[in-house]
Amino acid sequence: MGRGSGFGKTILFGEHFVVYGVPGIASAVDSAADATVKKAVKGITVTDERTGAKGYAEKKKLQQLESIERMLKAMNMDPKKVAIDIWLGGNLPGFSGLGASAASSVAIARAIAEEFDLDLRDEKINDVAYEAEKAYAGNPSGIDNTAATFGGLIWFKKNVGEDSNTIEQLSIRKPVEIVIGNTGIVADTKAMVAGVGERKKQNPEKYDSIFKQAENLAHKGRKALEEFDLQKVGELMNENHRLLQEIEVSCKELDYLVELARDQGAFGAKMTGGGGGGCMLALTHGKDIQETVASAIENEGYKVLRTKIGVRKV
Ligand code: PMV
Repeated sequence: MGRGSGFGKTILFGEHFVVYGVPGIASAVDSAADATVKKAVKGITVTDERTGAKGYAEKKKLQQLESIERMLKAMNMDPKKVAIDIWLGGNLPGFSGLGASAASSVAIARAIAEEFDLDLRDEKINDVAYEAEKAYAGNPSGIDNTAATFGGLIWFKKNVGEDSNTIEQLSIRKPVEIVIGNTGIVADTKAMVAGVGERKKQNPEKYDSIFKQAENLAHKGRKALEEFDLQKVGELMNENHRLLQEIEVSCKELDYLVELARDQGAFGAKMTGGGGGGCMLALTHGKDIQETVASAIENEGYKVLRTKIGVRKV
């Protein structure tokens, strides 16, 4: 039996903008998806035992099957001839916006490689998971699979039209507590990315200006993280949320949880990932603030994940 894991991630700066070559910052969280793969007699079966949003696994089933076929092809295997049983689990909840699809793709790719004795380095696993992400995200930037494969705090820039992207590991003085709040709405990243593309085409001037601001924010965010100026990081996250509202990828539930987290003392808060539902992220350095913000969100009936950014190993 082959085994593998992939990190969950959260995007601190730049979701959606990264699709068009604006730099972004993502961090692995200290939760992961795990997979096992066993050779079987016929076909491909998936047993998905990940915890999290109700309906997540069912809604993503078709995309998941397509992603597995894409992965097998990227590993030079014929999906029609391969017979495997895949199991998925781990402590990363299946919340939209936590990179659960990329984490599971990395876990499955690693497990397939182990079961079939393929010597795949992390760079290749990352490429394979990127192929899989196309099934979930259409035109993915690659930020999710990169964080899922390598972990840590990552500066990411898609080099549009080139073969490789810019990926730099950033150092942070110590891991920082965060709260991820889940709206409970299973979002469709592919549709959200396509929507931004359409609106961008219709309003090029407005969008160009917003994209420039997003680029500026990513650079300032990097500096603030490297200087461990968390107050500043929080302020910049708030600004990033405003830009995401302007490109119409937030929703009232996300805005509500973001406001709630700020009112409860978070350094800053924003939606994270594709939006239209899914998750928000609050920077809550220190266990006390983390607990206050997490309980306030839970008291409103939403699920949360208390976790950390800047963690290298799960
Ligand atoms: O919703 P998630 O966790 O899959 O994040 C998507 C991030 C986007 O920037 C919206 C898309 C992408 O491919 O980078």
